[in-house]
Amino acid sequence: MMNIKINGRALKVAEGTTILDAALQNGIVIPTLCKHAKLSPFGGCRMCLVEVEGTSKLFTGCTTPVWEDMEVKTHSDRLEGIRKTVVELMLSDHPYDCMTCEKAGSCDLQEMAYAYGVKDVRFRGERRRYDKRDGNPFIERDMEKCVMCGRCVKACDEIQGVGAIDFSYRGFKAKVTPSYERDLNCEFCGQCVAVCPTGALMDKSSAGKGREGVRKVNTVCAYCGTGCNITLHVKDNTVVRVTSPASSINEGWLCVKGRFGYQFIGSPERLKSPMIRKDGELVEASWDEALDYCANRLNGIKEEHGPDSIGGLSSARCTNEDNYLFQKFFRATVGTNNVDHCARL
Ligand code: SF4
Ligand code: SF4
Ligand code: SF4
Ligand code: FES
Repeated sequence: MMNIKINGRALKVAEGTTILDAALQNGIVIPTLCKHAKLSPFGGCRMCLVEVEGTSKLFTGCTTPVWEDMEVKTHSDRLEGIRKTVVELMLSDHPYDCMTCEKAGSCDLQEMAYAYGVKDVRFRGERRRYDKRDGNPFIERDMEKCVMCGRCVKACDEIQGVGAIDFSYRGFKAKVTPSYERDLNCEFCGQCVAVCPTGALMDKSSAGKGREGVRKVNTVCAYCGTGCNITLHVKDNTVVRVTSPASSINEGWLCVKGRFGYQFIGSPERLKSPMIRKDGELVEASWDEALDYCANRLNGIKEEHGPDSIGGLSSARCTNEDNYLFQKFFRATVGTNNVDHCARL
């Protein structure tokens, strides 16, 4: 363990802990923008700069490990001034688009600007102008709103293991792109969208349908049996976006279906009642009618051909409890072990 002081408080933290983590573990909040709890540190935004006793140099809290007898100051007039300037510089070539931006209300950059009272554009100059057209079906990429935090690049590489995007070019021209600036063509898991602190990466299908402030409903994704936790963003009884809480069992990561495939919920083509085939046509039936029909047919087939002439196929979209009951029903009631599951097909 290392003996350190943060803002005059004597603390003991494990060797190798960064200043930022040491502070967080002890309830001291240092502003950050590029740091994400699930990704390796990048040290790019400079919001987390801190002062260390004995040197005039500033250190990035997210990348600097503590050392024995280190004395850190996380807040001072000098540091707050620098952080405000950092925000101003990030906004110097940023589109002032908060009024219509899909991210407004949940944007870290907007929050930082609010926290530091940045109202006027002190630094004016060249603005980055990028073609926003990207033919991919899921993710709106507006690199004019990118603050180069690198979170998306790290999420794609470290979480998804895909590496579909990276920094291209140098200096003012640097930007995050797929290779050769082609349209994004990847797994479309949306982890990059989930970690982007600004409106640079957004869900295409949510555009204009409702942003922060809509009703949020926590539930479990119905696409497979993994059980990822999701949050449905609901406006006028319609799901307009899906996110996942970072504190969930799946740590906020989802697959393309869970994150972007929610339109089926409101589809007019959804079946709302059982269907029974009569004279070659599927016709709607009540649940009582459908269950009686199944029971009669199962009994009839069992009597005529024996229980092993019947087999049951279940679904990964059902809960574990449903699937347990399904196999129990086939084994104990129908009397056959012919039970399988779509995940093995
Ligand atoms: S990305 Fe954030 S700061 Fe930029 S326009 Fe959108 S809400 Fe405003
Ligand atoms: S959607 Fe997933 S695979 Fe595609 S760039 Fe983003 S993180 Fe990488
Ligand atoms: S697109 Fe978003 S996550 Fe990626 S570097 Fe830019 S601001 Fe960061
Ligand atoms: S949070 Fe440390 S440099 Fe960005």
